Amino acid sequence: MIRLKIDIEVLKKLERSIDIYNPEKGEVPIKILGFGEISLVFELLSDVEPIAYKRIPIFDNEKQVNRHIWAYNEYNRILDQDVGLNLPKYDVAWFKDDEDKIQFYCVQEKISPESVGNRVIHQINDDDINTLILLVMREMKKVWEYSKNHETIDLGLDGQISNFMLIGYDPDNPNIDMNTKLTYIDTSTPMFRKNGVEAMDGELFLKSTPSFLRFLVKAAFLDEVIDRYYDWRLVTIDLIANFFKEQRPELIPGIIRQVNKFFKEEASEFNIEPITFEEIQKYYKNDKMIWVIFQNARKIDRFLKTKLFKKRYDFYLPDKIKR
Ligand SMILES: Nc1ncnc2c1ncn2[C@@H]1O[C@H](COP(=O)(O)OP(=O)(O)OP(=O)(O)O)[C@@H](O)[C@H]1O
Ligand SMILES: [Mg+2]
Repeated sequence: MIRLKIDIEVLKKLERSIDIYNPEKGEVPIKILGFGEISLVFELLSDVEPIAYKRIPIFDNEKQVNRHIWAYNEYNRILDQDVGLNLPKYDVAWFKDDEDKIQFYCVQEKISPESVGNRVIHQINDDDINTLILLVMREMKKVWEYSKNHETIDLGLDGQISNFMLIGYDPDNPNIDMNTKLTYIDTSTPMFRKNGVEAMDGELFLKSTPSFLRFLVKAAFLDEVIDRYYDWRLVTIDLIANFFKEQRPELIPGIIRQVNKFFKEEASEFNIEPITFEEIQKYYKNDKMIWVIFQNARKIDRFLKTKLFKKRYDFYLPDKIKR
């Protein structure tokens, strides 16, 4: 971990005044860089060196925080030093706010938003998109090769295109070739198992789930959702299905062909069954349905908490995600 220059006082002020419906409109000026299902990613406009803060409001006590910091550092260290992915400089920041609640951030050096994969694919031609996919597959191969060679450790990865950034990408001259290097940014959810034991506390995955759904989610999908990040084939299906969400479904058959060729020629030792279009379609429909239900349930939860019970709702919910 490299210590980044973090101004805790500004973060404290931000938490005191954050408007979770409209985070950019608060007292402390921030700019949203992105968001995931749990985290809100932003930069503080007052920072001299640009830093990306991933706000992860899921911790109840210090024990959870310490375990998470350990898992986060270890995951980053393995991916960076042992597996050989390129990661941004990383750090964490946390404190207890005025109400004694834990506020936690994973912190990374900020990378130019134009160079994130899901932006890039709308700038480059179809051949270049195929090159990008191949580069992503090669990065992923390093991860699964590591797991294959280390009996006690299993690594998971979220292979979505929005988790990779292109080093040296120039949006005015969008160029990509087989020598382009990628950075992997989605390391705030540490996904590794030592001797089969999940490094991250599984319960934390449920924290963004409305309490009235937790029981159901835990019983019905939690293990399945976590397991799928450890399975290279499923992670690849997720990567490909993303092109539905990105409104480029016509690219999918070509991408599938290339990925299957990759599995056969460059990763034959993994014996991965070829992926089919029907599978991608089915996965996408399923995934879409689950997330739409989930997002709506979270909106209801937010309404109940903030409007009815006048309590605080910790998560940022994006308005509409086009799927
Ligand atoms: N270091 C960074 N610099 C610039 N932008 C970033 C950085 N890290 C993340 N982002 C932006 O925020 C988005 C979400 O970040 P990230 O992938 O780390 O979160 P996530 O894991 O998808 O969220 P969640 O875990 O809540 O589902 C990225 O796709 C990217 O657009
Ligand atoms: Mg992500």
